[in-house]
Amino acid sequence: MKKKMGAATCIVHAGRNTKEQGWMVNPPIYQSSTIAFPTLEDLLKAEKGYSNNDLVKPYELKYGRYGTQTNFALEKAIAEIEGGYNTFVTSSGAAAVSTALVAYLQKGDHLLMVDNVYSPTRGFCDKFLKKFGVETTYYDPLIGAGIEKLIQKNTKVIFMESPGSVSFEVQDVPAICKVAKKHKITSIIDNSWASGIYFKPFDHGADVSVIAVTKYLNGHSDVMMGAITIREKKDFLTMYQAFRYMSVNAAPFSSYMAQRGLRTAKIRMDHIEKSALEIAKWLEKKPEVVKVLYPALPSSPGHKLWKRDFTGAAGVFTFVLDKKYSNSALGKMLNDLHYYVMGYSWGGYESLILPVDATEIRTATKWPYSNNTCLRLSIGLEDVEDLKDDLEAGFKRLKK
Ligand SMILES: Cc1ncc(COP(=O)(O)O)c(C=O)c1O
Repeated sequence: MKKKMGAATCIVHAGRNTKEQGWMVNPPIYQSSTIAFPTLEDLLKAEKGYSNNDLVKPYELKYGRYGTQTNFALEKAIAEIEGGYNTFVTSSGAAAVSTALVAYLQKGDHLLMVDNVYSPTRGFCDKFLKKFGVETTYYDPLIGAGIEKLIQKNTKVIFMESPGSVSFEVQDVPAICKVAKKHKITSIIDNSWASGIYFKPFDHGADVSVIAVTKYLNGHSDVMMGAITIREKKDFLTMYQAFRYMSVNAAPFSSYMAQRGLRTAKIRMDHIEKSALEIAKWLEKKPEVVKVLYPALPSSPGHKLWKRDFTGAAGVFTFVLDKKYSNSALGKMLNDLHYYVMGYSWGGYESLILPVDATEIRTATKWPYSNNTCLRLSIGLEDVEDLKDDLEAGFKRLKK
């Protein structure tokens, strides 16, 4: 067993310790607020572990709000999948993003944020961090090493999301992280799209990776959860304090569900990738469609970087309809779809469709499709022919 294990093997075995789990294949659900300490010595040990500035020992039980063994089992699994030192699981992906940001930022600091970031992350910067004296500058997702010219004396964090929300440009993560390192700036990436399976941020120089576990890792549209993973031990206390005082830990039951889901994430994603690519290529040829924004297509922005750095493509992407299709006709197309559910989120077993518009959520770059209707798909596990037929029938209704 000298060979490095493959990605599917890793996701099945990551963090699993059946002995620690009482010889259960899956970790039991430890659902508790209070941890009963058998002796005063144990209680004081746990207290010391949590109040000591030198705290470097993860996975210590003290109080339900900091997690139970069920949370720790998932944290160990995700840390191994991402290849990091430690993971903190949070109550949602958005909680993971905001906790990771506040860990490194304080009054008077400057943040470089990618322009195509998930819009609630933008909202957190504009409506929340600003209130606390943190200034945000948005940058072009395709800026690459050019980000250096945006660095100020007080820049403390560069935040990436690759590929980014709605428009799916792939970023030059290694180039950006190299600049960050040179200037001693912390680099954080929202890695939800690849979910730690198709992209390894730490191999490309990132310091912190955030995943919305709600999406592919859980994969069944029934859990809200996020994960923050740090690459190095030196960041443990910084992140742990943010996690502890933001009080954003995930529920043990959700951790159980997410762990159950993640064991099949690689095969789900591989299946979805095949279907998504087929549908994306098919859409590119449709006369109703003017553009398909999917990193696996050569025509998509940042495709070369995707090819260089990723090992696969998730199944979430956007396509742009020809201007002649009005919003009233869109209702006819969407309301009668059989298999696509209209709704937020993505990465579940079921296919989703959602009208999206980036006009109001771009400030560094201009969204070229403000006059077009854009639809975001999250491809699920259905038969690909059914998914194409459903869209085909939708296009017919659109044109009627
Ligand atoms: C890229 C990205 N990051 C983070 C999140 C937030 O995840 P959650 O919905 O679990 O809060 C989302 C949700 O859609 C997302 O698309």
